[in-house]
Amino acid sequence: MDTTFLDHAELAGLKANWGTIAADRQELVAALVAEGQAALFADWDAPGTNDAAKAAFLDSLAKINGNYPGGLVGYIHNARKLLAESKEGANPFEGLTPEQPEKVDLTSFSADFEKYEAVGAARFDQVGVVLVAGGLGERLGYNGIKLDIAVEVLECTSYLKHYADNLIAMQARSASKRPVPFVIMVSQDTGPKTIESLEANHYFGLRKEQVFILQQELVPAIADNDGALALNAKYELILKPHGHGDIHMLLHTSGVAAQLKDAGIEYLMFIQDTNGPSFNTLPAAVGVSVENGYDFNSLAIRRKPGEAVGGLSKLVGNGKEFTLNVEYNQLDPLLRATINPAGDVADETGFSPFPGNCNTLLIKLDTYVRILEASRGIIAEFVNPKYTDDTKSAFKKPTRLETMMQDLPKLFGESEKVGVTIFDRMWSFSPNKNNVADAAAKIAAGGPADASATAENDFYAAGRARLEVAGMQVETAEEKRILGVPFTLGPKVILRPSFAMTLAEGRAKVTGGAIRGEATLILDGADIALENVELAGKTGLVVKACAGAKVTVKGRFENAGFELVELGADADVPEYLKIRGYRFENRGAAIYEFTEPGEYTIEA
Ligand code: UTP
Repeated sequence: MDTTFLDHAELAGLKANWGTIAADRQELVAALVAEGQAALFADWDAPGTNDAAKAAFLDSLAKINGNYPGGLVGYIHNARKLLAESKEGANPFEGLTPEQPEKVDLTSFSADFEKYEAVGAARFDQVGVVLVAGGLGERLGYNGIKLDIAVEVLECTSYLKHYADNLIAMQARSASKRPVPFVIMVSQDTGPKTIESLEANHYFGLRKEQVFILQQELVPAIADNDGALALNAKYELILKPHGHGDIHMLLHTSGVAAQLKDAGIEYLMFIQDTNGPSFNTLPAAVGVSVENGYDFNSLAIRRKPGEAVGGLSKLVGNGKEFTLNVEYNQLDPLLRATINPAGDVADETGFSPFPGNCNTLLIKLDTYVRILEASRGIIAEFVNPKYTDDTKSAFKKPTRLETMMQDLPKLFGESEKVGVTIFDRMWSFSPNKNNVADAAAKIAAGGPADASATAENDFYAAGRARLEVAGMQVETAEEKRILGVPFTLGPKVILRPSFAMTLAEGRAKVTGGAIRGEATLILDGADIALENVELAGKTGLVVKACAGAKVTVKGRFENAGFELVELGADADVPEYLKIRGYRFENRGAAIYEFTEPGEYTIEA
């Protein structure tokens, strides 16, 4: 190897240490110096001083080099290119005009909705679920992993358990009973606690082999437009998250995507850590993808103009057209510059014509594997430096390359078909992202709160909707503001996935009846039937039935049920309660649990 570069004065220290550096590390150092990164190795201490720090520094460089497709040199090249484009102010949508994407509207529980659900439900064993859970959750500020937070506090089901319950319900309904693959992307911040939670809870009833944990790594921060890697201190890189788009790279480099394809999986559903309703949409979304031949199905909601979720649009121009998520801050200027001088405004429906991206994605696996092979899973990186001034020559703080999982269609050609399936918001998108103070401020400003209380609220609303479709009379109680965040007092309905995954299943198990006011109904079990059941006031009814226990419930129940107790902002309570400001107390709900197979009747 040519080592003449070591003769530079500032590399004298490195030269003195050179003999102690392993050959492969020497090669990497030489490659980095050739890429203008000599500052990383300037003024090294003499051998014998800080040797452990030097070794750890080289280890961290080697690790990143191995993790990033194309290595560190590839990362630096990508950074330089993107930073140059950013400096020029290149318009990523130059020459493109937004049009309506191909969309299927499932915002009402129509005959079409059920047709799609039936198609999807017949394919539960051809679907794998990918959960991206590497994010820090800084906006929520929860002191643990978000997957451990309870999605509801009547029974305190964590997001992770809720997702596992859905996989188990899918398995139970499929002809093959094949375990549904569950890929979880974690990061250094979330990985250990995610594994701890799985282990401590026996994988929530899943088999360990069906769970694939992929860990995303941090990427080096970049100090300037030349792509200089930034140091925190001598021998210490600044590292930052690379975004949820890493899931594509990891599914490729780990071989998991190809492995699942070979095992006969046809679709992967990508979900986020705290979007509880994701599985409400799964059966119909799969049906839509199958029936319409979608390679990429973006699940969406009706978007209020200006709302901080990306707009899905078909971009046409330069001899191409592709359907993409356009970030909300880019959508308005793009619309102004092309089809509408008024920008991001409502159409006659009162919503933006561009549906809002829930970031729940359903991707056809053979197309996906092909795209991953061609791209090595590096999906449309971008850079977003904050410049010190208009000359764009310096950054306020080091930046880094990032990726977003919804950008996959940027790599699609003419043969890949992208569609959008629009669901009701409560049914499909109610993430838990914001702490209660910020959530209240968002509500005051007219936006969605996307907080713990609203996520729980929508959880119950989806349960109520299923009962209503099944023909039960549902009367909703008043809405209350708790710490400034709206919460509907009832009825609180939890229909576990074991009970129903489709509307048709709910309809088959519920006949007539009524639920009103602040009543609570929790059903967990495949073989529970409600016959003209009535719950009023604050009555609570909980029925849990193990496999093989067939339970018929009849009559009018009346008891003191579950009471919502407000906690106030400064209550000394566990954090999962603090982030919502209330808890429920059982004042005498009727609770039935059947742990042995058999036939049972509960009559009020
Ligand atoms: P969010 O932006 O909602 O979550 O990411 P966050 O990054 O955890 O939250 P803040 O911004 O710090 O408050 C959407 C999804 O992408 C995952 C998150 O875990 C969440 O499921 N994510 C985000 C990753 O898996 N990796 C990342 O690097 C970033």
